[in-house]
Amino acid sequence: MCGIVAAVAQRNVQDILLEGLKRLEYRGYDSAGMTVFSDGVLTRHRALGKVAALAARLDAAALPGFSGVAHTRWATHGKPSEANAHPHHSSDQVAVVHNGIIENYERIKDNLQGSGYEFYSQTDTEVIAHLVAEKQAEGLSLFEATQQIVNGLGGAYALGVMCAAEPGVVVGARQGSPLVVGVGINEAFLASDPLALLPVTDRFIYLEEGDLVELREQGAIRIVDRHGNGVERAIDTFEHGDGAASKGEYRHYMLKEIFEQPKVIEAALEGRLSANSVLVESFGPDAQALFQRTRQVHIIACGTSYHAGLVARYWLERYAGVPVQVEVASEYRYRHPVVPEGTLFVSLSQSGETADTLAALRFAKTLDYIGSLAICNVPGSSLVRESDITLMTRAGPEIGVASTKAFTTQLVALMLLTLSVSKAKGQAEYPDIIAALRTLPEVCQRVLALDRQIEILSQAFAEKHHALFLGRGAHYPIALEGALKLKEISYIHAEAYPAGELKHGPLALVDSEMPVISVAPNDDLLEKLKSNLQEVRARGGQLFVFADESVGINAQEDIRVLTLPHVHEALAPLLYTLPLQLLSYHVAVLKGTDVDQPRNLAKSVTVE
Ligand code: G6P
Repeated sequence: MCGIVAAVAQRNVQDILLEGLKRLEYRGYDSAGMTVFSDGVLTRHRALGKVAALAARLDAAALPGFSGVAHTRWATHGKPSEANAHPHHSSDQVAVVHNGIIENYERIKDNLQGSGYEFYSQTDTEVIAHLVAEKQAEGLSLFEATQQIVNGLGGAYALGVMCAAEPGVVVGARQGSPLVVGVGINEAFLASDPLALLPVTDRFIYLEEGDLVELREQGAIRIVDRHGNGVERAIDTFEHGDGAASKGEYRHYMLKEIFEQPKVIEAALEGRLSANSVLVESFGPDAQALFQRTRQVHIIACGTSYHAGLVARYWLERYAGVPVQVEVASEYRYRHPVVPEGTLFVSLSQSGETADTLAALRFAKTLDYIGSLAICNVPGSSLVRESDITLMTRAGPEIGVASTKAFTTQLVALMLLTLSVSKAKGQAEYPDIIAALRTLPEVCQRVLALDRQIEILSQAFAEKHHALFLGRGAHYPIALEGALKLKEISYIHAEAYPAGELKHGPLALVDSEMPVISVAPNDDLLEKLKSNLQEVRARGGQLFVFADESVGINAQEDIRVLTLPHVHEALAPLLYTLPLQLLSYHVAVLKGTDVDQPRNLAKSVTVE
């Protein structure tokens, strides 16, 4: 989604802001802009398109100065255009960058227009600039003005505000959208994601809901909470390192992140297993008692994370004997869910900032759950801070919009949850699955070695407009995820079905033009799956099968088969995800799409 960077420094901030924007581009990217206090005035450049377009403007006319605010935009109110790009100004007095949505902006806009303020954009953000200017005209400081006006803003926001009257000051506010303060040496920064600021600091303050912060010269930082009381917030050191923000030897972040999976799966397991068992305390000191009381689980998530939740349903029911419901957050939050006694609420999110998932958690906290668990990749994110217990997936920053390593590490975390619930309830401890988990990084490595073969396979898809993915059991969600990946980055229409449903409709679509992709691990549904594949062959469909080396499905004219190493049945969904990721990647590269930043999508959807 949108990204904010702001700085008050002892050096020229233009390049710090620009580098920050480049690093945030993966979140949303239809336009970008920057305002710097330069030569005694607030000076702004904005450009439609990628950050590179803004960089070209800056090459032509630099914006040197010691303080500034900058933004990448993903349109919500008003189409992508230069006029709608942030920062928004009130005259040349106030500049604002904003993530989120101001729900009551129309009424505020009417009032401001009544007072003579002119509007130059269709955004909800512009009202904030005028509101601050109006308060400043009454004699308030930038901090006081911002503090007063945020109370009247409905919806969600993270803000960065500066004004011509106080050149060395930037004010930030957070309500419903993430914002961090970067603590430098005699300088201070703001950003919607710490990644943006890693070239200048690794020390961060994660603001809390309702916090207002003032950055001043010499690195002075003042924070007040939602009640207006001065507060000290802890400074955390960012531990992921900065390597994640570069592509290294890879052509795209997505490919890099696919190939990082053995390493991050290992990281996700580290310190969480004993010789033959899972360490329940990986979920925190309260987990044992909570899991003991768990009689049901409700899992809520969006997008790829939702697919991870669907896999977990098969696991938790089969291996921990606990009934599970899985639902997308945007539906759940507006239902009237019935919460049976002893139900644990589990939210899954790579970013921990997805608006619907966060709203679902907050809603769940008003219901009769025994507790909330967040499985998340971003420490310090809202979801993590607001849940009772948490487990970090340790995938490291994921830049490609299409989620890959975040998904497989979520699956690892969900298997750890399955084993932990079973163990805490005094049931089986599954040493066989534990042993298989340990070998998983190495088996994944062997699957990734099939990359070249998958690349060759991908040529059959480049001219296609549709594709069908089939799976059974816990591999049905893997088929869903495979179809999502293909449509996200190659724009080929793809659907997934449980293979047993084929004859209830989708079979009508199958002809010699329709590629049908199936995953065929060696499990107790294999024979049934084989019959389903015959149904496709009989209609002339082109089959692409990813199969366990032992299942005996042979390549023929109308079936192309890629064999995968054998893995414990429980972990097969994780392994079979990898070739589907690589397939989508190579198809997208052949089609020439923007793999890391597919059209119309954003990495972290912080609006509803
Ligand atoms: C967006 C991203 C997806 C992601 C989904 C949920 O749609 O493009 O890749 O799966 O949000 O994000 P989360 O951070 O909550 O896992």
